[in-house]
Amino acid sequence: MSYRHIEVSPLAGALGAEIGGVDVSRPLSPEVRGEVLDALHEHLVIFFRDQELDCAQHHAFASNFGPPIPHPFTKGLDEWPETIEIIRSPGEPYNWDSKFHSDLMFLEEPPMGASLYALEIPPYGGDTVFVNMYLAYETLSEGLKNALGGLQGINESGAPANYSTPGAMAGKNGEPMAASHPVVRTHPVTGRKSLFVSPGFTRRFEDMTDEESRPLIDFLCEHALRPEFTCRFRWSPRAIAVWDNRVSLHRAVPDFFGEVDKHRRVMHRVTIGGDRPV
Ligand code: SIN
Repeated sequence: MSYRHIEVSPLAGALGAEIGGVDVSRPLSPEVRGEVLDALHEHLVIFFRDQELDCAQHHAFASNFGPPIPHPFTKGLDEWPETIEIIRSPGEPYNWDSKFHSDLMFLEEPPMGASLYALEIPPYGGDTVFVNMYLAYETLSEGLKNALGGLQGINESGAPANYSTPGAMAGKNGEPMAASHPVVRTHPVTGRKSLFVSPGFTRRFEDMTDEESRPLIDFLCEHALRPEFTCRFRWSPRAIAVWDNRVSLHRAVPDFFGEVDKHRRVMHRVTIGGDRPV
């Protein structure tokens, strides 16, 4: 794809691109917005460095991709309920984003994406790794693709308390949630098929037991996480990412607040609403 209004520099062969020539704190012209969306559809996750944003500007930028939605279990900022502050501090348990996942797969209509803005970055580490789930699907055998065609995955949230951290990230009361979604979904814009399972949320297949489902779910997750299907983003302060949550997995790498490395990492995430997967 060629771009006339933005600069697009791929980060890895599988997915990810850094975008230059755009100030995301200002309203995007229709031409720039169109190319940014094209870049997202081509690269699945896009990054912009050195962006000065307040909460209103972050919210407005995220709205280019769809309607911001609140997180069901993590309390948003008082004035910006759709913006959650993800704080990682020394000594806290590794939960919430510690497994590869597509955000909120347990909703009937999981998000189409999210925008993550770096406020406080450790001097090293704390990268985010992303996975291309088109590639994960396309590299399966035709036999397995056919077998997966009719399967629904049951995606469970686990305990709502896992989405908050005492003293740092406030939670919301709620009951665990679950949703059944096709294991192979079709992107509404590109028309391409992708795998829609994740180690974070997919527990079993509909109408099957955990024991029957587990070996195939484990195989699919292990296959999806092959390094050649991933990219890894090294954050800098005021960098911002947008990912297409329908066709990618991600997780943060918590390698900066162990016994020795007592650093903090603070990000703002705006979650962007999506449709029921088909
Ligand atoms: C997330 O899982 O939404 C956050 C990822 C990160 O903090 O890098």
